[in-house]
Amino acid sequence: MVDGGDPGPGDLRHGPVPEHPRRRGQHGAQPAPAADRPGPAEGGDTVTATPLLEVEDLHLSYELRDRTVHALQGATLHVGRSEIVGIVGESGSGKSTVARAALGLLPWGVAHITGGAIRVEGADVTRFGPRQWPKLRGHPLAMVFQDPLSFLNPVVRVGRQIAEGVAKHDPGADRTRRVAELLDLVRLPAEVAQSFPHELSGGMRQRVLLAIALGCRPKLLVADEPTTALDVTTQADIIALLRDIRDTLDLSILLISHDLAVVATMCDRIYTMYGGHTVETGPTADVLRRPGHPYTYGLMQSARAVRDEHGRYATIPGQPPNLAVEFPGCPFSGRCPVEVEPCGTRFPPSARVSGAETHLAWCWRLVEQHAGDVAVTA
Ligand SMILES: Nc1ncnc2c1ncn2[C@@H]1O[C@H](COP(=O)(O)OP(=O)(O)OP(=O)(O)O)[C@@H](O)[C@H]1O
Ligand code: SF4
Ligand SMILES: [Mg+2]
Repeated sequence: MVDGGDPGPGDLRHGPVPEHPRRRGQHGAQPAPAADRPGPAEGGDTVTATPLLEVEDLHLSYELRDRTVHALQGATLHVGRSEIVGIVGESGSGKSTVARAALGLLPWGVAHITGGAIRVEGADVTRFGPRQWPKLRGHPLAMVFQDPLSFLNPVVRVGRQIAEGVAKHDPGADRTRRVAELLDLVRLPAEVAQSFPHELSGGMRQRVLLAIALGCRPKLLVADEPTTALDVTTQADIIALLRDIRDTLDLSILLISHDLAVVATMCDRIYTMYGGHTVETGPTADVLRRPGHPYTYGLMQSARAVRDEHGRYATIPGQPPNLAVEFPGCPFSGRCPVEVEPCGTRFPPSARVSGAETHLAWCWRLVEQHAGDVAVTA
């Protein structure tokens, strides 16, 4: 546990219990939880009047030929200006789906938003169609992916690929000079402009992808597992680069990773996702010091490679939930070591975890510990 002592999950003693965002089909329209919406800055949570990106209780399904995958069943997050915000969660928890939904990068005809909202700079983009989404891509939102090769055109020199974004989003700029500036920004030599993607290493390709994204002058850069395919040293370089870029350009970053250590070193705030739900959020230091959700706690134990009494490394026992079934209870139910009575039948409301008003977890155990403090609206 960070900070020496091990408080364990759900050590909750204080604070009001904010209202939970609406659960589809259960409670009708209600606002997002007060503490996950913009308000006065507290506990390192940099917030502004209008966040760049707001995802509110988003429900999204992939309709496949033989089954429906309920990939998002209540995803909630916001990113303010100049923030670095992380999403963590194991494979299949919905991290990429929520990010791709925010950029309209989901397969048309297969992915369906069935509830909730996505707002970009306050504008509701939830029902955007294929012609409207491209207007948001690059500027104000840009994305870099785990596998740059799948994005880069193999037969076009890197400099030209960077220049294409510049031409679209910065038409008055001197393209040659701007390409050189962008390569310098991502710490690549100017000669790289003449290379084809296959002539570059994985780390260099990821930097090229970043240069393309930054050439569009985004306000928010979404980075989906940008370092997962790289060796440890290159990972550290890319993370340091992302942080420097945020400081230099004053943009916001939404960083997606299954690696809590990466997110912990980089992000101002964290969201934990599990089974298509946001299950915890808060300033990074608060979440690491006192995780409120048993799943976040389990992730931390795994990340710190804690060994049990038999010398085995800690993993979270059990399997992730089956997303082909819409489950009315907490998705961690059946796998959770501290399950209580309503867990299997009703999704919990959010409850405040630690000192920061913005540190919330969606867990019945927290709600129980708050009992008597304030009425809970589930
Ligand atoms: N295009 C798609 N078609 C059908 N199902 C999909 C599609 N994309 C994702 N899914 C399913 O949606 C669920 C969430 O997937 P998603 O990729 O968002 O998870 P993730 O948290 O990003 O996982 P990972 O860490 O492995 O990248 C998973 O069950 C996945 O199989
Ligand atoms: S709601 Fe229940 S099952 Fe879910 S994490 Fe909390 S205690 Fe565990
Ligand atoms: Mg993913």
